[in-house]
Amino acid sequence: MRYLVTGGAGYVGGVVAAHLLAAGHRVTVLDDLSTGFRAGVPDGAEFVEGRVQDAAKWLDGSFDGVLHFAACSQVGESVVDPEKYWRNNVGGTIELLSAMRAAGVRTLVFSSTAAVYGEPTTTPITEDAPTAPTNPYGATKLAVDQMLAGECAAHGLAAVSLRYFNVAGAHGAQGERHDPESHLIPIVLQVAQGRREAISVYGTDYPTVDGTCVRDYIHVDDLAEAHLLALGAAIPGEHLVCNLGNGNGFSVREVVEAARAVTGHPIPEAEAGRRAGDPAVLVASADRARERLGWRPSRSDLAGIIADAWAFAQREETGA
Ligand SMILES: NC(=O)c1ccc[n+]([C@@H]2O[C@H](COP(=O)([O-])OP(=O)(O)OC[C@H]3O[C@@H](n4cnc5c(N)ncnc54)[C@H](O)[C@@H]3O)[C@@H](O)[C@H]2O)c1
Repeated sequence: MRYLVTGGAGYVGGVVAAHLLAAGHRVTVLDDLSTGFRAGVPDGAEFVEGRVQDAAKWLDGSFDGVLHFAACSQVGESVVDPEKYWRNNVGGTIELLSAMRAAGVRTLVFSSTAAVYGEPTTTPITEDAPTAPTNPYGATKLAVDQMLAGECAAHGLAAVSLRYFNVAGAHGAQGERHDPESHLIPIVLQVAQGRREAISVYGTDYPTVDGTCVRDYIHVDDLAEAHLLALGAAIPGEHLVCNLGNGNGFSVREVVEAARAVTGHPIPEAEAGRRAGDPAVLVASADRARERLGWRPSRSDLAGIIADAWAFAQREETGA
């Protein structure tokens, strides 16, 4: 099969592209390198430097489906520059859907996010939980989910929205290169590398096991496998929404402790106050992904996730 991977020079898209290639598919990556890197595109993929907004230039009937990762995804930036997020995430997807319809490409897997739920009312979070994003990033992802529901109903698109929780780990030489980095595990590893002095712990008085926030970390290879399953599970006319997480939460302190064990570095902590809009616990129910996709995550061990991220971080630093 032949697939277009938008955002395939980024962290998640690059790893999914590698999994598609390993499964014997043909892959074309479309990426404008705004936050991605040419080195993130796996060997064997065709690379087109361009914008999703112009997808019609490259998309034709030879493609069997699209995996859509391309987006702006920094929560903080979305608060100070919301137009950028609506224009790129929602505007870009409108153009992509038009191009897909014109080319007769009718299968789409979309990167949605746990941020669509906002402050959860119950835990673990199911797909039926209320959606109330607390920032423009989450709002744009929810808008695309709603747009896809309409496109499936009106035009028979087969679409799956995968709502990722905290993606982590690495796939060999492919890992997180966000700049600025906002995710906990790579930041903790930057402390271990001596690139930061300490890890800031935002809030130590939450009603959790040790007072710090609890999040659901999912290995990027487990996440990638769900995308390949989603391509097979997509049904014309249906918009399927699945959470992707382990269903297991780890506190900030548990992550730091595990990173100390993996790296052998003391990783000092600096206690800071709570951040606005940080829920105490964000943990997924992934029952639907298991039932509908037949997904079975097999890399849920926190130390293993951190070890893969550490190997990648060390490789990046030494240029090996
Ligand atoms: N990493 C996570 O923990 C996480 C969690 C939830 C959801 N997501 C979603 O998953 C997707 C991938 O995230 P990531 O962490 O790999 O981010 P990333 O920034 O590494 O990758 C995004 C890629 O999209 C490209 N891009 C952005 N706008 C584009 C455009 N208009 N045209 C072409 N290319 C464009 C960027 O250059 C980049 O390579 C995003 O949609 C993100 O919102 C990620």
